Order: sequence, then structure tokens, then C-alpha cells
Amino acid sequence: MASSGASAWPYIGLLALVPGLLFLRPKRKPDEADIEEEEEAAPNDTINVYFGSQTGTAESFAQTIAAEGRRHGFHIDVVDLEEFSASELLEKGKAIFLMATYGDGEPTDNASEFTTWLKNESGELESDYLATVEFTVFGLGNTQYEHYNMVGKSTNEGMEKLGAQRMFEYGEGDDDNQLEEDFEAWREKMWMALVMRFGGMGGVDGVDKAVDLPFSVKMLTAAEAACHAGVSETAAASSSKFYWHGCDAPVVVNRELRAQAPGVGSTRHVEIDLQGTSVGYHTADNLAILPLNDATTAEKLCAQLGYDPDSFFILEHDDNHKPVFPTPCTVRDAFLRFMDIMAIPRRSLLEQLTPYVEDDAEREAMHLLSSKEGKEKYHREVEEPGWTLADLILERFSSLSMTLDHFLHVVPHLHPRYYTISSSSSVSPSRVHITVAVLEQDRSQGRLYRGICSSFLSSLEPHDGATVEGATIDGSGSKCRVFVRESTFRLPADSSIPIIMIGPGTGVAPMRALLQERAWQKEQGLSVGRNVLYFGCRCRDQDYIYRDELEAYQADGTLDSLRLAFSREGSSKVYVQHLLREDAAEMWGLLEGGAYVYVCGGTKMGTDVHSEFNHIAQSCGLMGVEESKEYMKGLHDAGRFVQELWS
Ligand SMILES: Cc1cc2nc3c(=O)[nH]c(=O)nc-3n(C[C@H](O)[C@H](O)[C@H](O)COP(=O)(O)O)c2cc1C
Ligand SMILES: *[C@@H]1O[C@H](CO)[C@@H](O)[C@H](O)[C@H]1NC(C)=O
Ligand SMILES: *[C@@H]1O[C@H](CO)[C@@H](O)[C@H](O)[C@H]1NC(C)=O
Ligand SMILES: *[C@@H]1O[C@H](CO)[C@@H](O)[C@H](O)[C@H]1NC(C)=O
Repeated sequence: MASSGASAWPYIGLLALVPGLLFLRPKRKPDEADIEEEEEAAPNDTINVYFGSQTGTAESFAQTIAAEGRRHGFHIDVVDLEEFSASELLEKGKAIFLMATYGDGEPTDNASEFTTWLKNESGELESDYLATVEFTVFGLGNTQYEHYNMVGKSTNEGMEKLGAQRMFEYGEGDDDNQLEEDFEAWREKMWMALVMRFGGMGGVDGVDKAVDLPFSVKMLTAAEAACHAGVSETAAASSSKFYWHGCDAPVVVNRELRAQAPGVGSTRHVEIDLQGTSVGYHTADNLAILPLNDATTAEKLCAQLGYDPDSFFILEHDDNHKPVFPTPCTVRDAFLRFMDIMAIPRRSLLEQLTPYVEDDAEREAMHLLSSKEGKEKYHREVEEPGWTLADLILERFSSLSMTLDHFLHVVPHLHPRYYTISSSSSVSPSRVHITVAVLEQDRSQGRLYRGICSSFLSSLEPHDGATVEGATIDGSGSKCRVFVRESTFRLPADSSIPIIMIGPGTGVAPMRALLQERAWQKEQGLSVGRNVLYFGCRCRDQDYIYRDELEAYQADGTLDSLRLAFSREGSSKVYVQHLLREDAAEMWGLLEGGAYVYVCGGTKMGTDVHSEFNHIAQSCGLMGVEESKEYMKGLHDAGRFVQELWS
């Protein structure tokens, strides 16, 4: 039977081609109880769904695939790529990969070992090594980045090179546009192809309540919880190990960096004291913050769903599943720390929640929002106004009724957010600084949308009496759970090498750290190369953050050149890339002198700066287009052109 090209046929026509293997399940009311006939139609083999995820999207996509696959009668195992084993892949023989791309076209932390293996760098794999494996890949990426979906593409090619057979065409999605729609369209066709190829059930419409939960919830008394040993990190699922990392550290400074005037927005300078914790850092590393949800919202949601926030519970897992967050804890803890209740829910989440809505009209409404037909309505009524999951349940779907175990299983988990550290570990070893742009948007329907982590951070009260490095902390004030991850911003080992820093807006954070470090090196008597900084913002008087410090560095000679681009001051908009062009000859001289270039900020700026450097290589280095590309790639590969960009 044909194994590809199935996508062109309508679903029903396709089903008719493979009688006996499949049958149409009668449509049921979604909340009616469960599957009886699935066993006999189930294909024999297991499909492994591998995910490489940093912030959880690919992981939740894997869960969606798993739920759908089971409804189609397949056995599905979801596997974090951190736990990838080649022998298991060969044994299972069928694999779906969901691959996000990060950094400069790099894999997520936990997929890096797998992608290295797949590249056959050890040289030990034959070209038919995976000949018995059938696979497909979906890439998660963002067109704002230069290396769009690099990891999805390379996984697809790598599998093929090792001889694996494609069971469905490669697909990819764009997080800048319609990632969820892209994924939906791809997997719909994928199931058609897989059902046709392996049997199983087609035409499964509507979602049932989750079955076979990976855990059960056991309520405990406070006394029982107190003497319970708790779950250790080694036992935890690798994609949620971050809950066990790091420690709670006190916030010691939290101040506004912008002018305090209406419409100017907010950027906070936050300092966190790491003394006495196991957390250490290097200059310009990334600090992971585990945010808390808004306490009032969490409380209201518990009340609405009928859970007692003060009661303790543990998650009990069977042997095939691992803990997804640390217990015992209270229900309140789970709602504050682990459940992603203040995010805008994806349509696939609404789909999974639909069977739990008791009121017929509300259930119909949620079903429509989650369906393909309701896509526009979802954009207009949920996404654009920025309805959070909590608010939807509280205000629009109040008949939602779920037991705690179902809620904990269906709702995605809260993930850490990473900030580039804006302090030097030589100058400030036990106190880490971050620079936080606060996301607050007026949306349609008069709603205000707040970034989960930035609004959490800006709400933290600093401990008093602790504003000097090394001072002791007294009682009051907030703590914040943090851990450190390495970043790519590293100063040249030889301090006499010049550096060019380009960091408009919050992108100045790592540049501040690098400058602190270079000033410190100077104090140590080292010979320090030229320091050049390009900063940009709207107006000098509004959002020129760290102005005093930068001007002081300029005055004391640490900063050899401070170039400022204000986009809203003059009649025409000036951005950092415009200044780079003015300074082309100087830039070229520095590059030829071995300078390192650091770029941090939005992806659009990053792309513009990168092409400006290409342009400089062409105009000053007299290179052709291809040659300048090679030149930039050379800088990048040598670690001399480093970018950290966000969209
Ligand atoms: C810091 C950062 C760097 C990224 N780099 C890339 C990239 O180089 N290419 C790309 O296609 N997407 C890139 N993305 C987009 C992500 O791959 C995309 O948002 C994806 O949906 C995230 O999936 P996850 O939540 O499972 O980690 C980047 C996102 C972030 C936050
Ligand atoms: C189904 O799986 C069982 C157990 O793994 C195996 O013994 C059997 O041969 C398989 N049947 C088919 C048709 O592949
Ligand atoms: C997975 O990610 C964690 C945290 O970033 C890291 O410590 C660990 O080494 C990673 N594992 C693999 C296999 O890359
Ligand atoms: C793996 O590397 C070895 C050594 O470089 C090479 O001979 C072999 O062809 C490679 N396999 C594939 C599938 O590229």
C-alpha cells in the first residue's frame, strides 16, 4: 500500500481503503465513559514520541500526539530526548520527533547529546544503521531567527542518512506566526498516513476525559506530609528536573530603571543574594527564575474547582512513569509553583478540557473555540484579549469540573524563565543582578495582559538592611527560586583583545556584566583592549537604562566609545545598525585586529546587525557576498561573533 501521498485524500475515502483494520467509532457525548473496543483495533507496535524542548512547547505537543495516538489505537511512549537510547529506538522501530531550535540554530539543552550522536561524529554508524526504523519529524522554530528550524531539519536529514525510513513527511511550524495551526495541519495528515499504513482507528472526533493517568493523587494530613521523605531529583522525569534545581534566594534590590511616567513602561533592576546557597555563576551567564503565579488568582481557582488549598498530597506513580513535580506539597503550592494557570491556553488544551465542562452551552462554546472551525473565534476571543486559563475558568467556563488528579495531568506545568545576568562574578561574586523588562499590554476587550515572570519579579519586595554586598539579610522581604545556566557570552581569554558590544534595550544586560568585568581586569593591572558599546532605546529621558553607570564608565575611560541610538528623539528613527554603518571603517579595523562581537536583544535587531556586519565586510574588506558570509561564519565558529536573541 502506498505509504506517502496519502494527504491528498479525504479522510473517509482513506478509511474505506483498509477495511477490517479500522472502524469508525460512533460519536459520543464527550463526557460519556470510556473505550471498550480499542484493544482489538490497536496496531501491535509502539511509537516512541521523542521531544527536544526548552520551554515546554515541544513537550506539550508530544502529549497531544500521545493522546491522539492512543485514541487512534496506537501504543505511544513519550520520551524526553535526554533519555534517548539508540537500542530502544531500534527495538521500538517507530519514532516521531518533535524538535525545537534554540540559540543560533542549536538544539535544546536536553537534545544536544542526541543531535551529536545523530551527526555520527564518532564515525561509528553505518549508513543502514537505522534501516529498521520508521520515523517522522516536526520542527518547532521561529522565522525571526536566522537559522529557522535548523534542528528539525537536521534531525530529519540525519535520520535519513542513517537509513531510517520516512513514515510521514517532515513538517515544521513557526512560533512567530501560527505554530499551533502548522502542527495541527501536519499531524492530521500524519495520522491519516499512519492509520493507513499500520491500521488503527480513524475518524476519532472529540476528546474523552483523560484515561490512564500517569499518577494518582493521595491526600495526606499535615503530620504525614511532614514526615514523608519526598521525591528526589534522581527519580524525577528529566523534563521537570528544574523544579528540584537551585534554591530560594532573597531579593535584596528591586528598583525601576526607566523614568516613572505614564506610558514609559518599566524595566526593573533586581539583585538576588546567593550567599549561603549552592548556586554560583560566571559573568553574563543566564539566571533561571522559577516564577510563582498570582496568589489571589490561585486561591480563587482552587475555590472554584472545589479544592482545599491547605491540604497536602503526594503523587503516586506506577513503574512506567516518573514524578513531574516535587511532592508532598499543598494544593496551594501546586497552583502557585507548578501549574501554568496564568498563560493563554493553547487550543489543544481547551480541547482536552472540553469533556470536563458540565454545562451544555459552555461545553459547546469551548468545543468550538478548540476546533479548527473556531480558529478565528479563538484568536479574536481568547488570544488577542489575552485570556489566561485561570480567568477563562473563573469567568467563562465556571461549570468546569475536574478532580485534582485530572487537573494536574491535563494542565501544562510552569517553566523557568531565563535572564542574562547583568553583573560580573569577579565584582559581585555572591550577588547576581538581572535586568527585567516588564511585559504589560493593554489588549482588546479592555483586558490587561501581564508577563508571568516579569510581573512576578517586579512584585518582589526587597529585604531591607541588605543593600550592600555582603550585608546580612533580615527577616522581611521576598525570596525567589533560581538556578544558573551557562551562556555563550565569554570574554576573550586575552584581556587585551578589543570587544564590540551591541545591546539596545534590555539587551544591555550582559554588556553591563562584561563592562564590570573589564573594569575589574583593569583594576587588577591587566592590559585591557578597547571597549565599544552600542546602546539604543526610545528617548534619552525615558528608557535610557543604566545611564549613570554607562556615563561613568565613559568618564573613567573603561568605555572607549559609547554610541547611542534614540529611535524617537529626532525626525528620523536611529537604530544601532545605523550607527554601525557610520562607524564601518572603525568596526572593520577592530575586527581585523581580532575583536570579539557580542549582540543581545530582539531577533529583528540581531538580523539587522548581522547583515550590517556582512555589509561592512563587503565595503571595507572588499569582499563579495559569498565571501562575506564565509567571513561572518568564520567569526561565529571561532566564538568571536556571539548573539543571544529573543523574539
Ligand atoms: C532564546 C531563543 C532562541 C531561539 N532560537 C531559534 C532559532 O535559532 N531558530 C528557530 O527556528 N527558532 C528559535 N527559537 C524559537 C523556538 O524554537 C520556538 O519558540 C519553539 O516553539 C520553542 O519550543 P519549546 O517551548 O519546546 O522549547 C528560539 C527561541 C528562543 C527563546
Ligand atoms: C505482536 O506482539 C507480540 C508480542 O510482542 C508478538 O509476539 C507478535 O508476534 C506480534 N504480532 C504481530 C502480528 O506482529
Ligand atoms: C539536560 O538539561 C539539563 C539542564 O539544562 C542539563 O543539566 C543536562 O546535562 C542536560 N542533559 C543532557 C543529556 O544534555
Ligand atoms: C559515519 O562516519 C564514518 C566515519 O567518518 C563514515 O565512514 C560513515 O559513512 C558515517 N555514516 C553515515 C551514515 O554517514
